[in-house]
Formats: sequence, C-alpha cells, structure tokens
Amino acid sequence: MCGIVGYIGFRDAQNVLIGGLRKLEYRGYDSAGIAVLDSGRIEIQKSVGRLANLEDRLGGRPLPGHIGIGHTRWATHGRPSDENAHPHSDCSGRFALVHNGIIENYLALREELLAKGHQFTSETDTEVVAHLVEELYNGDFLQTMVQVGKRLRGAYALLVMAKDHPGTLIAMRKASPLVVGQAEGEHFVASDIPALLEYTRDVFVLEDGELAVVTKDGASFYTLSGDPVEKEPLHVTWDAVAAERGGYPHFMLKEIHEQPKAIRDTLLGRLTEDGQVALDDLTLPEGFVEKLDRVHIVACGTSWHAGLVGKAVMEKLARLPVEVDIASEYRYRDVVDSDGTWVIVISQSGETADTLAALRMAKQRGRRVLAITNVVGSSVAREADDVLITWAGPEIAVASTKAYTTQLVVLYLVAVYLGLARGTLQAAEARDILSAMQDLPQLAEQVLDTAPQIERFAKRYAGVHDTFFIGRGLDYSVALEGALKLKEISYIHAEAYAAGELKHGTLALITEGVPVIALATQTELYEKTLSNIKEVKARDAFVLGLTWVGDDDLEKSVDEVIYLPKTLPLLAPILTVVPLQLLAYYAAVARGNDVDKPRNLAKSVTVE
Ligand code: M6R
Repeated sequence: MCGIVGYIGFRDAQNVLIGGLRKLEYRGYDSAGIAVLDSGRIEIQKSVGRLANLEDRLGGRPLPGHIGIGHTRWATHGRPSDENAHPHSDCSGRFALVHNGIIENYLALREELLAKGHQFTSETDTEVVAHLVEELYNGDFLQTMVQVGKRLRGAYALLVMAKDHPGTLIAMRKASPLVVGQAEGEHFVASDIPALLEYTRDVFVLEDGELAVVTKDGASFYTLSGDPVEKEPLHVTWDAVAAERGGYPHFMLKEIHEQPKAIRDTLLGRLTEDGQVALDDLTLPEGFVEKLDRVHIVACGTSWHAGLVGKAVMEKLARLPVEVDIASEYRYRDVVDSDGTWVIVISQSGETADTLAALRMAKQRGRRVLAITNVVGSSVAREADDVLITWAGPEIAVASTKAYTTQLVVLYLVAVYLGLARGTLQAAEARDILSAMQDLPQLAEQVLDTAPQIERFAKRYAGVHDTFFIGRGLDYSVALEGALKLKEISYIHAEAYAAGELKHGTLALITEGVPVIALATQTELYEKTLSNIKEVKARDAFVLGLTWVGDDDLEKSVDEVIYLPKTLPLLAPILTVVPLQLLAYYAAVARGNDVDKPRNLAKSVTVE
C-alpha cells in the first residue's frame, strides 16, 4: 500500500526521504518517487519498481535541497509506470504532491480541468489534485488547500509542496493516516510512524478531516475548513529494533517465532488469580451484556479467519448467535441487527479501508463497536467504542502470522468473559480454559520445534500446483487460514475444505500424489475426519496429518504426521496454525519467492 514521507529542515532532503520510504517498503508498492525544492525549482525523480531503481536514477543525478516529499505507490488508478508514480505536478511545475487513497470524483474534476486547458501526463486520480491546486491557487497556500479539500470526494492523505512557499509543507488527511514528527530545527511528515522514528519520537497524529501546515520550526493544525485546532504530540515508545529482522532471514519467520511471546504479552494482565478475565479496557455500559442478542464479527483476510474461530468459541461458551462477515460484503449487504447487537471488528493494521467503513456503518446504525487491533492509535482503534489491543508487536511481513494467533487469544478472552457474564459458562470450566491458555506460549514453543520436519516436507512438495487443506469444526477454520497463507506467499493453489464436504464435488480434484493437509484435532469430530481422510487416501493423495501427541491411530491412515503438544481441543487453532504458517514459509523459500513482500499484495489495504 502507498507510503508517504515528507521532510523540511537542515538535512539533505533526498536522504531523509529515501530512508523513510525504505522503512515503509514492507507495506508493498510498485513504484516510488521523490520531489525536492531548491533555488526556486521543484525537481522530481521517480521510477517504476523497487526503491533501488529510483536510487539508481538519483545516483547519477542527486536532487539537492532541504525540503521534499516522497512516495511509494501501489497502483489503483493506472498501471504501475514511471508516469503514474508520485509525486505529481501541475502544468506550471509550481506544485508537487503525493497522495494515498482514492479521489472518487477525479473523472469529473479531470473533465473540468481539461476544459480549462490543463494537460495531464498520467492516468492517476492524484494528478487531478495537482492541477486543481494550480487552478485554485490564490497566493495563500493554506486557503488554497482548504478550497481544494472542498472539491475532493473520497479518501486521501495528501502532502503538498509549492515553489512559491519554499519553507512550508501542507499535509491533509481524510480517512488515510498521516503523522507529523517534530524535532529541533526540522519536521517530518509520514503515513506511518516507522518512517520517522530514526529522527524523532514526538509525533502529532492527524485526525480525520485535519490539515497541518509544517515548517522546519513547527507545525500548526487546522480542520479541513481552515479553523485552527490544538494538538499535543504523542511520545512514541516503540523499540525501532523490534521492527528489524533480528537475525532471521525473513520478517515472516521472525514473526512466526515471536508467537510464544506475542501470546504471552496479549494475555498479560488479562487473567486474574481467581480464574476470571480482566478486560479492563472494555467500558461497556451497565446492562449491555445482559441485553445482547447477537454478535457481528467483521474483518478481512486473516483477521476474518480469526473471526470464524471467534464465532465458534463464542457460540459455544456464551451461547450467543454470532455472524462473521467479510468487511467488503458486510458494508453492502442488508444487515439485520438490533439494539442488542455487538459489532466486533478485527484488524491487525487498524487501517483496512473496508473494515473501517464497516465500523463506521455499524456506528451509524447505532451499534456499539469493539475493535481488536494490533496498532495503538490506528483509525479503527480511535473510532471504535472499545478497543482490545493484540500485543503482537509490529508485524512487517505481508503474511499475517502473530497477529492471527493474538487475535485468537483476545477472541477467546472475550468469549470467556461473555460466557461468565451471561451465566452460560461455569466458573470451573472458565478456570480450566484460562489456565490452559496460560500454557499456550510454552506449547507454541514446542510446536516451533516441528520446523525441520515441515521444511523437509515443504521442499519435497514445493513444485506442486494444487494442495488441499481439510478439517472439521475449528480445524476447518484453521484450514482456511493455512490455505490462504500458502497461496499468498508460495503462489501454490490451495483450497480449504470442510472435510465432510469433499464428496460433494471437490473430491474429483484429488488424484495421485496431490498433497492434502488434514487437521484432526477436534476430538468429537475425530472419527468423521478420519473417514474423510480415508476418502482422499483411496484416491492416492499424499496426506500430511496434524494431531495430538499420543494419537497413534492417525499415522495408520496418512503418509506423514505432525504431532502437536496437547491442549484443550477448543484452543487447538492457536497451535495448529503454526505448522501451516511454517509450511507456507518454507514452500515460498523453496520456490525462491519474495517471502515478506509477495507479488500483488500489500500489508495494509487502505483502499476499498
Ligand atoms: O490489517 P488487517 O488485519 O485489517 O488486514 C486484513 C487482511 O488484509 C490481511 O489479514 C491479509 O489477508 C493478510 N495479508 C493475510 O496474511
């Protein structure tokens, strides 16, 4: 997803911009560019592909100057190309700007500006904004941008530079995140905090509908209508080193191995000694739980898969009907809800456009919204009524791993909390579940020991075209996540199937040697799953089974078994997903793929 960096101060702007963009590379992008203002001229350099391509170009001809803007683009309007890369400029070259998001009315604006004689050099919605700035410019930079904001529809984080105002950057936020970093004699603008952590830890977070006028000595803030706004900086305490690879060849592998700690951190302070859940961050009004008649869980991708597990667990422990929706579906369907509906949105980044839109829609309908997110201060976190943070730490690899397991931890806690509050879960049973959860970090460590076995398997099967993941109940939900992981980083086609559903069509695809990953951890469904495994074995599939240590039966029916340390079957997803993440990782490595930045994908999807 696109990234923005801006600088004004005493340093060489080019170096700050390139360094900042490099910190945002993990978000995924297909082109990059910078613009630097010096001696009354704005110079732009951009290139399709990796940041290294841009650096090659700049190597031959660096851009001098102490004020500049930079961007990594993930194509939406117009293919990835040099022309479509940001920054964009107007006809006269007086302005340069970068943009994250989508300008929904860009076609109408483009027609209008074309009629007035403006000439366009790209296919982007962003270039329209540059020409609009030129068209509306009245000598007052701030007032011009206020007027520009009034004409734009859609989502944007905009950072603008003007030849006539060499000491000022203007940043505007509608829906897409932006922060301003302050330091002595210099200021920074970025779409994400890691881009400026090298220089400052004091940042102002722009709220939706705010604008910042940034100089080297300070920043002043306004609404998009131009009214002044008071803001206090936030001191960021993140450890920048936590975002580095720490000796692992890829962020994804590092993050898989961080799961025991992430699970422990997410549980920390949320379990009481007398076996209760302490969700102090929840500020539910008196009588809220008693009035609940259903829960809607809304999320995308891996977070949606976590929601599927959440549904099963909440329905079991709290005896509440739970619906789980993909956010892009939820926001456009005729939702049936009630005053007793609790909406839970799940998002690692807290910036996913569809999830945020679903949250806003739920709030408009008068629903109380709980956000489960990994990013403090993210849009989702700021807009929800309640927030439960997953303390997974920064997740850099595009493929989500530790975010998923910690989302599950929070969902289990919420389910136990609801069960106890509604009287559907007995205290003794809650104690058993919570005590088993405390053992999960150590058990996850043991699961990581299966890595060499999984690596061998992955190497052997890295050349296949198709794979299948099967399971029943909670195992099926995890199978969906395993298949997504394999697809997104190894590019091997993978399908997850409810094991009992195979014979209704998919079994036709099972032929000799096709790998089938079969999850068999749900005791009550074990015999049924075993029958389904036999169905695929009878078609000569190669079956890798997952079961508990001590189950000596499965190996008689499959080709290879991964044994997991025992926990309650209810908690199995937190452990079973780990070998599946490792399988995807090693398959991707064996195929020589860019594991942390898979093709066509972005870490944070901030467009619809
Ligand atoms: O940040 P979010 O949790 O809202 O992101 C949702 C999905 O885009 C994300 O989980 C995606 O599916 C992952 N790349 C999967 O590994």
